[in-house]
Amino acid sequence: MVECGATGVPALLADALHSQIDMHHAYGGVVPELASRDHIRRVLPLTRQVLAKSRVAIDDVDVVAFTQGPGLAGALLVGAGFACALAAALGVPVIGVHHLEGHLLSPFLSADPPEFPFVALLVSGGHTQLMRVDDVASYELLGETIDDAAGEAFDKSAKLLGLGYPGGPALARLAEFGDASVFDLPRPLLHSGTLDFSFAGLKTAVRTHVLKLGSNVCEQDKAHLAAATQQAIVDVLVRKSIAALKATGLKRLVVAGGVGANTRLREQLNAECAKRGIKVHYPELALCSDNGAMIALAAAMRLQRGLAKPQLDYAFNVLPRWPLHAA
Ligand code: KG4
Ligand code: ZN
Repeated sequence: MVECGATGVPALLADALHSQIDMHHAYGGVVPELASRDHIRRVLPLTRQVLAKSRVAIDDVDVVAFTQGPGLAGALLVGAGFACALAAALGVPVIGVHHLEGHLLSPFLSADPPEFPFVALLVSGGHTQLMRVDDVASYELLGETIDDAAGEAFDKSAKLLGLGYPGGPALARLAEFGDASVFDLPRPLLHSGTLDFSFAGLKTAVRTHVLKLGSNVCEQDKAHLAAATQQAIVDVLVRKSIAALKATGLKRLVVAGGVGANTRLREQLNAECAKRGIKVHYPELALCSDNGAMIALAAAMRLQRGLAKPQLDYAFNVLPRWPLHAA
């Protein structure tokens, strides 16, 4: 829940999060039907929790925002249906928000918010994009993955290494005990001259190594392979981010999305950017992965600029596939 004036960065009043990681962990990944059923169970208690934390009376809520897409249709529908029912009951407008815009703007809730314009590196489980951001809703796509997303590369490699869900943090933890130089892994499209990414070949290379090591693979080799995988992904993300900054001439980088929590990525980006006088902004760690605060923030920032289309008819739809530049 955020509070916003006519200008300035909206302030976070309260937020609450329920992670489905434990539920998905049991199945080794996201089961869409279970995810949406769990959304149904959690959405009302979480809303009550946020209201209680914020000490704002429900009648004082002016607008309700929800994630309209992209994402799993079932989970999106639960949020959209709930938001529209709540807004209708309160007689206030409702605003559908783009999930990635939430991630992109989430660093504005940090202690040291960025200023426009900046280059954004969006790295989540489903997306890997570099964008020039001149203001809210002014996004130019500079490059994106042509196959797997960076988070997907972490998750799939982790699965090959027999690590649990979610793979990214598990692989990163194991990598701390490994030496990244033991295994030689490809850095796809590193020298392509474009700002696009490709991670499918990396996953295939990890699979080849796992098969070669066989079922008796020792923990140390697994850690070396985890470190090499993480390093290959980080090298590509850092190199392309620097290239995007160079191409645009901008001196600010915003990193958002779940993979933005990766410590190695942060260390390497910070070092490379410091050398070039570039300032890097991250969301608070708690706001790196999916959360409601970033969705409220994006809606508020759009409202301030007269960009949101608040609806009062409550006839909602969701957009499981929705490019950000079309938002
Ligand atoms: O943004 P997000 O929470 O959800 C999506 O919208 O996809 O991103 C989730 C992704 C997963 O692929 C997860 O493995 C990855 O972010 N991730 C990490 C780390 N924490 C989360 N990857 C690498 N290192 C981490 N520390
Ligand atoms: Zn996300």
